[in-house]
Order: sequence, then structure tokens, then C-alpha cells
Amino acid sequence: MNVPDIVVFLGRFHPLVVHLPIGILLLAFLMWSYDFWKKSTAFSQAIAFSLLLGTLGAAASCLIGYMLSLSGGYSDQALNWHMWAGIATTALAAWAYLSFTLKLKSNKNEHIRWASLTLMVIVLSITGHLGGNLTHGSDYLTEYAPIIGERANQLPLPRQVEAAMVYDHIAKPIIQAKCVSCHSDEKKKGGLSMVDAASMMRGGDSGSLFAQPFTENEVLRRIHLSESDEDVMPPKGKTQLTEEEKKILAFWLKHSGAFGLALDSIGNDSINHLAAVYLGLAQGGYDQAQMIALDSVPRATIENLITEGVVIRELVAGSNSYDVRIPSSVGHDKGIELLKKLEPLFENIIWLHLSGLGLKDEELTSVETMDNLVKLRLDNNDLTDEGIKVLSNMKSLEVLNVYGNTLTDSCLVNLSDVKNLKTVYAWKTGITAPRLGKVMLIGAESSIE
Ligand code: HEC
Repeated sequence: MNVPDIVVFLGRFHPLVVHLPIGILLLAFLMWSYDFWKKSTAFSQAIAFSLLLGTLGAAASCLIGYMLSLSGGYSDQALNWHMWAGIATTALAAWAYLSFTLKLKSNKNEHIRWASLTLMVIVLSITGHLGGNLTHGSDYLTEYAPIIGERANQLPLPRQVEAAMVYDHIAKPIIQAKCVSCHSDEKKKGGLSMVDAASMMRGGDSGSLFAQPFTENEVLRRIHLSESDEDVMPPKGKTQLTEEEKKILAFWLKHSGAFGLALDSIGNDSINHLAAVYLGLAQGGYDQAQMIALDSVPRATIENLITEGVVIRELVAGSNSYDVRIPSSVGHDKGIELLKKLEPLFENIIWLHLSGLGLKDEELTSVETMDNLVKLRLDNNDLTDEGIKVLSNMKSLEVLNVYGNTLTDSCLVNLSDVKNLKTVYAWKTGITAPRLGKVMLIGAESSIE
């Protein structure tokens, strides 16, 4: 239906305006209860006045509520109940008002007042509750309630990201947070409810959410529009999806909702990684099965380095493989000196943290000879694309963190040579491409996030 803007504009005042007659009518009821209790008539004029005001306010609320309903998007059934309850409240308020102003035989009048006011308060409460359901969804009140709340039946998180359920653990929380406030059974904007699998399969005005072919998917199209676009979802002005959430939803859509499927059956490295970050689960722990035989390093060498301030941890006891960190607190010059002193250990370093040392391009060259290095943190240094070149020949490197260095997309040419690279943390770098072949560039393209 084509509704004039002014009608929609006025309609949107409904949630604001209704509170006025609600308060006034409740006050009338309280004053009447007081008089009834004390067998007095102290308030009767004030009650009549409040009921008149309340009736007019309720009638006005009905009118603009009707205008709001014309803008559509509410479930017809829930809307009908709320509307008729609102009209009944108005009628009961008017009836109560008349019982205070018309001269009837006093005994009979007392009963009418009693009945009309009590009924009015009951119906008023029901109307308010139904209206709240329309605006917030019917589980709004119970969501955080102990035991009965929806949260109580949420699936517990698995320990390994591979065991996470694609829909229940990963997609559903995003949909709950960013979509269902407008796409529920009560409030079906665009005819679409996203509360469960069946509703999503049914879809909205333009059909199922998982309509094929995937590239023409309506949800996929809408979530990737720019925030100023008329069709973007969530609509402009609402909290938008983050890049990570978009990627997760795209994956979820591609697998037609993946209901009942866990990541280990359909996941790939990049989505597993995103999901692990999103769920706060550890991923890519040191895999003992992959462990290679490494020569041992003299104990004294390690102990010396530790005394000098290097943090060294053996990954698996007796494996001769180490997680090594030069803390940023040692400062730039000492940091460089320590990095040189790591030389006898180079083959044995699997994880290396060189964050915040103020490293410059030429100071990174020794890293190249660390053949077994799997994870490298270089965040918050003074590196440029030039410095990143030394990494191109690293055979084992899988995870690289370059957060907070002045890089550009040109360094991707060199990163694409890193054979086993899977993930690059690229927040605040200047890198804009979201991915590089199979490599996820997490945080790229949005230095704002
Ligand atoms: C603030 C309310 C609001 C939120 C939040 C919201 N939508 Fe919508 N959505 C609408 C409205 C209104 C329409 C109908 C107008 C239109 O088609 O643009 C709609 C329509 C749609 C449609 C088209 C349905 C069809 O079949 O034509 C899709 C798909 C959709 N939304 C998906 C989403 C997704 C996915 C999210 C969460 C990421 C979301 N929406 C969040 C208000 C919202």
C-alpha cells in the first residue's frame, strides 16, 4: 500500500503518545480506589476530569496507531489483537467517564464505576503488553528472565571451533542481534521473519532467504550495500554489520542456512578462523602431530637469553621448539641486540613476538633464516612494504600480524609468495584488499574498526 509520508511520520509518534493516556487512566483508577477504600468522594471531580482526558488521549493514540500500522511490517494477527484491545480500552474509559458524569440512581452507578474502571485497567494492561510485543518482539520481556529466558536454552560453546554449529553458534547470534528486532513473527518487515529455520526457508515478499543461485541472493545483496543505500540491511541509521559478520553471514547463506551442520563438515581455514575470533575460541594451537625433530639448544644459551630479558617457553616439553618473545619494554636498541643473540636458536623458534619494538625494515632481515617459524607478530613497528619482502621465502609461516605498520597493498605481492600463509592481521596498516588468494587479511580495508 502506498501511504503518504505525513501519515507514516505522525504514526511513528504512537509509541510516545500512548504513555500519556496510560498514565492518566491509571491515575484515575488509583484515585477511585482510594475513594472506594475510604468510602469518600474527595477525588470524584478529579477522577471525572482524568477519565475525560484519558479517553481523548486513548482515542488519539488509536488514530495515530492506525496510521503507524499502515506503514506495514507487523504480523496481522498480533496487530489486530493490539488494535481491538486499544479500542476496547478507549470505550471502557469513556464508559467510566460517563458513569461519573451522568446522574444515575446512586447504587447502580457505584457498580458501573467499579466494573468499568476495573475492566479498563485490565484491558489497558493487555493492550500495553501486546503493543510492547509488536515493538520489541514477544520474547523481549522474558529474554533475560532467570530460567525461562531464551538464553537459558542456548547451546554451550564447544572448546574447538571446528565443533561449532554454523547456524546456532555463529550465524544465529548475529541475526538475533541485528535482524530479528524487525524480522520476527510479530514484526515481519518485508514479510520476513528470521526467528527460525522454517520462517527463513519460507522467506519474505521476495521468497526464500536461501534462493539460488547464490550470486543473486537477496540477503547477500542487501547486507553488502553501502550504508546510505535505501535497500541496505540493517537499514541505514541502525547498527550495521561488521565486515566479519558479513563474511560469516555470506558463508552461512552459501550453505543454505547450514542448519544442523558443524564447521568441521563444511568449514574452511578462513571461515574457521573468523569464527574462532568471533566466538573467542582458541584455534591453531600447536599441533604435536606436525612436530618435526629439532636439534637441541644448549641450556646455558637459553638461560642467558632469559636473564637478558627474552621470554622463552618450550611449546611441548622435550620438543626443542620454542615460543619466543622480546618484550617491547626492552626498547628498540636492546631489542635489536637480543634479536641478534637469538641466532643459535633460530631453527627452533616456532612462534616469535616482536611487537612494539620500533623495528625498521633492515632490522628484520634475520627473521628470514628462521625456517620453522609458524607465527610471527610484528605489530606496532615501523615497517614498510620494503621490510615485508624478506618474508617471501619463509616456508613455514602461517600466521602473521602486521597491525599498526605503514603498509600498502603492494606488499601483498610478496606475501602471496609465502607458501603456507593462512592469516594476516592487517588492522591499521593501509592494506585494503580483504583477501589474498586463500589468505585471510583480517581487519584490512577498515582502519576504523
Ligand atoms: C530496523 C528494522 C530492520 C532491521 C534491524 C533489519 N531489517 Fe530487513 N527489512 C526491514 C524493512 C522495513 C524491510 C522492508 C522494506 C525493504 O524491503 O527494504 C526489510 C526487508 C528485508 C528483506 C527483504 C525481504 C523480502 O523478501 O523482500 C531482507 C532479505 C531483509 N530485510 C534482511 C535483513 C537482514 C539479514 C537483517 C539483519 C542483518 C535485517 N534485515 C535487519 C527492516 C529491518
